[in-house]
Amino acid sequence: MIYITGDTHGNIDIHKLTSDGFPEGNELTRNDYVIVCGDFGLIWDNSSEERYWLRWLDKKPWTTLWIDGNHENFDLLDEYDIVDWHGAKVQFITGNIIHIMRGSVFELEGYIFFAFGGAESHDKESRIPGRSWWEAEMPSDNDKEAGRKALDAAGWSVDVVITHTLPGRLQNAVFGSEYPSNSLNDYFDEISEKLDYSFWFSGHYHRSVIIDDDHILLYNAIVKLNDEGFEVVRDDEDGRFFPDGEISDEDFDYLMSLGDEEI
Ligand SMILES: [Fe+2]
Repeated sequence: MIYITGDTHGNIDIHKLTSDGFPEGNELTRNDYVIVCGDFGLIWDNSSEERYWLRWLDKKPWTTLWIDGNHENFDLLDEYDIVDWHGAKVQFITGNIIHIMRGSVFELEGYIFFAFGGAESHDKESRIPGRSWWEAEMPSDNDKEAGRKALDAAGWSVDVVITHTLPGRLQNAVFGSEYPSNSLNDYFDEISEKLDYSFWFSGHYHRSVIIDDDHILLYNAIVKLNDEGFEVVRDDEDGRFFPDGEISDEDFDYLMSLGDEEI
């Protein structure tokens, strides 16, 4: 089984994966996967607390996969070897916690995934380069080209896309001028126009929103892929889903009221 959720931010938002927050997890095996859509946050300062939470997560019965968001320590992440796994380029953080590199196409349980991490911090002016902010949060041209080449090889057809931030047109549709498009949003516009996919899951915005039939924002909600597409197994107490896919003026005001200081 494959579950997908949003930002964990180290131990700050990992409560969604506790036995209470995610009771289904207790029944899973190493051949089941929980995918975190960026801002994993447990490669940050190598503190004893961080190592404790990595051990805690490593002992969960499933295998955790994550893409990078903007709040990761990319210098520490660089120290891990890159290996091939299920068609993806990955880094094994522990035996059961795996970072999927940007631009990877891989197969799990018959689903073809395209994963591409990274995003721009909205609060980078208040962060310290090399300590709480890294330029590598935004993908390089090489990363983007690697993504295009991987999709060339996959015939521009996958089942599920996993990113941290959204294509610009969708970001604009949900958040209006609140978040102007950057070069990564533009890249995802390019990819989404050319790529055949069933579902695109993103994190980053700290809200859980079903934008339309194909595009889902996740924060503390957890979804499970199934034969019909996906089901919500944990709702988000901090955001909320809009299951009819319509974002009303009231919904929009609510989304805006949640704030964006840390995204
Ligand atoms: Fe985040």
